[in-house]
Amino acid sequence: MLTFNSYLVLSAFVHSTLGLIQTPNFAADVIRTQQLEASWDATIEKRDDVPAGYVAPPYYPTPKGGWVGSWTDSYAKAAKVVANMTLAEKVNLTSGTGLLMGPCVGNTGSALRFGIPNLCLQDSALGIAATDNATAFPAGITTGATFNKALMYARGYALGEEARGKGVNIQLGPTIGPLGRKPRGGRGWEGFGADPVLQGFGGSETIKGMQANGVIATVKHFIGNEQEMYRMDIPPHGLMKAISSNIDDRTLHELYAWPFMDAIKVGVGAVMTSYNDVNGSACSQNSKLINGILKDEFGFQGLVMTDWLAQIGGVSSALAGLDMAMPGDGNTPLLGLAYWAYDLSTSVLNGTVPLERLNDMVTRIVATWYQFGQDQDYPLPNFSANTADPTGPCYPGALISPTCVTNEYVNVQGNHASVARNISREGITLLKNDNNTLPLSTQAVLKIFGSEAQNNPAGMNACNQRSCDTGILGMGWGSGTANYPYLDAPIDAIKRKAANVTYYSSDSFPSGITALSGDIAIVFINSDSGENQYTVEGNHGDRDASGLVSWHNGDALVQAAAAKYATVIVVVHTVGPIVVEPWINLPSVKSLVFAHLPGQEAGNSLTDILFGDYSPSGHLPYSIPVAESDYPSSIGIVGFEFFQVQDTFSEGLYIDYRYLNKNGITPRYAFGHGLSYTTFSKSSITLTAVTPLSTLPPARAAKGSTPVYSTAIPPASEVAWPTGFSAIWRYLYPYLDDPASISSAINFTYPVGYQTTPQPAPAAGGDEGGNPALWDVMFTLSVTVTNTGSVAGKDTVMAFVQYPSDSSYDTPIIQLRDFEKTDTLAPQGSQTLTLSLTRRDLSVWDTTKQNWVIPVSSSEPFVFWVGNSTANLTIACESLSKACSAGRPSPVV
Ligand code: NOJ
Repeated sequence: MLTFNSYLVLSAFVHSTLGLIQTPNFAADVIRTQQLEASWDATIEKRDDVPAGYVAPPYYPTPKGGWVGSWTDSYAKAAKVVANMTLAEKVNLTSGTGLLMGPCVGNTGSALRFGIPNLCLQDSALGIAATDNATAFPAGITTGATFNKALMYARGYALGEEARGKGVNIQLGPTIGPLGRKPRGGRGWEGFGADPVLQGFGGSETIKGMQANGVIATVKHFIGNEQEMYRMDIPPHGLMKAISSNIDDRTLHELYAWPFMDAIKVGVGAVMTSYNDVNGSACSQNSKLINGILKDEFGFQGLVMTDWLAQIGGVSSALAGLDMAMPGDGNTPLLGLAYWAYDLSTSVLNGTVPLERLNDMVTRIVATWYQFGQDQDYPLPNFSANTADPTGPCYPGALISPTCVTNEYVNVQGNHASVARNISREGITLLKNDNNTLPLSTQAVLKIFGSEAQNNPAGMNACNQRSCDTGILGMGWGSGTANYPYLDAPIDAIKRKAANVTYYSSDSFPSGITALSGDIAIVFINSDSGENQYTVEGNHGDRDASGLVSWHNGDALVQAAAAKYATVIVVVHTVGPIVVEPWINLPSVKSLVFAHLPGQEAGNSLTDILFGDYSPSGHLPYSIPVAESDYPSSIGIVGFEFFQVQDTFSEGLYIDYRYLNKNGITPRYAFGHGLSYTTFSKSSITLTAVTPLSTLPPARAAKGSTPVYSTAIPPASEVAWPTGFSAIWRYLYPYLDDPASISSAINFTYPVGYQTTPQPAPAAGGDEGGNPALWDVMFTLSVTVTNTGSVAGKDTVMAFVQYPSDSSYDTPIIQLRDFEKTDTLAPQGSQTLTLSLTRRDLSVWDTTKQNWVIPVSSSEPFVFWVGNSTANLTIACESLSKACSAGRPSPVV
């Protein structure tokens, strides 16, 4: 049974039928395509459709890895190994073996002489995808809603333990792009919320946790992957290019790249590029993005891989800074054709790809492997993402394959159910609770409505990669999923907890019901989305068909229940915002609970809150507008256009609350909103200046040295087929039939702006994440939180920055910069929290200076607003006086 993404298989057919006439851009298969290329270049790279002002300037060459101190030892070890590798071994590590050519969703070749096995790359951001005996954790969006950094770390740690236990070398998560610019966007739920700081902490805490286990984490998708539809190139390349996300430089830095900086700052080992173009240049070979921003400015030392089948050219992607092609196939998967593998061997032998670029690719991969200790007793994969059977073909993509032990069914769940439950519970966000309707008594008479409260009758894992919306929605659909080991449905948990429960599983309100006074109705509704390879109920990944409306006539079900019962509680499982106006103000709709996407612990975590064992402490990781039209049309899903769909981020910095605030639009529920069963006060608020403000950060340090290798092109014999080698058909190898025939006199048209002299070190760089001074703490804010109510609970403190009013930079009124959560506080208990404001937090990206600039003012202060939602900001401290005061008018509606 093949469980691999059906879209990949489908696209394999599309690609293979059209493959013979397709021509890659700056193709790696230089020999075979160079004449064709000359005539195609002009058309395939035409950029006329990208609006003026959105540029993808060339940035060459690729900065070599190894110059950052914290990677020195790993690079030294890697350099020793790489210096002794053959060309074939080097190419092996950079190139995937092909779709379905190994146990994992991605598999590299190996360099066994040095103990480096085929590396296993496996989804997902919320579990170990497509396998057994692993935890289905709550999704990123649920984790973001906890606003709890410790839980973000705990989830990452548990994910890493499971990945290691299954033998995954490189885990394909966390997802920190999309950022959630588009409420309808299909994959926002994989990440942590529609704010770069929330996304940044969510990502970096996850990475720290995962990598503490020796697993290499992958942040994805770099960058601008905000919509699913039209995300991929349709061959032949140039006929229909992937969507172009057109992003200006400042917006890129302050919103979309921000969380990637955080990820690199904490040492993430891998970055995955996204399918889309940015400013008309494919992310898998956008030299400005990979060479310029990731590797030079952000000082990234690990490896950059493509998204699956996103590579559109061989030499071009190598020169632009790509290090690993995944899953290895070119545009023609399952035929044994690649842009790299054997064609990278060719390109190095004929001198088109400089040997030093290949050496840097391999060094980055091997150094990353050492950096996380994978040379020390790291397990091999003991599962197969392709089958649930115990034995089967080792390479299901091959026509004839040897047989392998495919699954050992290793149980890696440990005690992670409790981590999952803690997060699912703490993410639950109570948006409305009139008359203290919640918590419920276990003796209450409960009438439960909606199929969403129960499991999918066909089975919890019935739909491939959760590509259906039947029953409880614990995660969205696509590669960002995992199989449930169990799925604790809300109705089962409610029945375990409460004495008097009647369940109506239909999504139509049943006729003939008599509501008695005192009856309480709980209505379950949901809204789903996912990845573009599946269409679910008319939605192509994005919620293009459903909009922000609950699925399965959820609004009508709530309205009908509200017409009958005096007390209605609505529970929503959702990938993102839904509009709740059709019923939120009905007099009997007393409570609204957003449980986001809870994963396997959907039931217990919910009853923990519904029955008051815990006080809710989740906060909205996005705003809920009154109407979708409250947002600008630019953040809607962009429809079909011939040749290339253009998605221009014309709203710039103004997404989610930043847009609503600027335009004086009051949301139904503000970013950060979330109620508790108790009350909290804040006192002893102090602002402490730590570092004097200066407009520009201190100058960066010079780069350290990088490995130096021989520049002599290796003997062609290094990529000849080994004697007696028995090749698997369609497997991607580095070998060539007649390597000696490769001519070095190749006439290759290099990209415009290509150069081999290193660029001057960018002022904004200097270390992993950029200039280390960007993380200097300029101010700390400390706040004492006291539980003034009668039950235990946790409170969250968020700090929003307002820039000096005389700043010449057009900047959102307020922006989240840090948050902290208390431990559980007993009634009267208190805790002092300290939040930090770094240089970057006070800076804007100056597109002329190409640096982070603090708009320092001697007369106007930065104002630091303290609260727990954008609608609840009345306490503020000012940077000049350091004075803090309560009762101030909020800066936003
Ligand atoms: C495509 C998805 O965009 C990416 O997130 C995933 O890791 C790969 N497929 C592999 O499944």
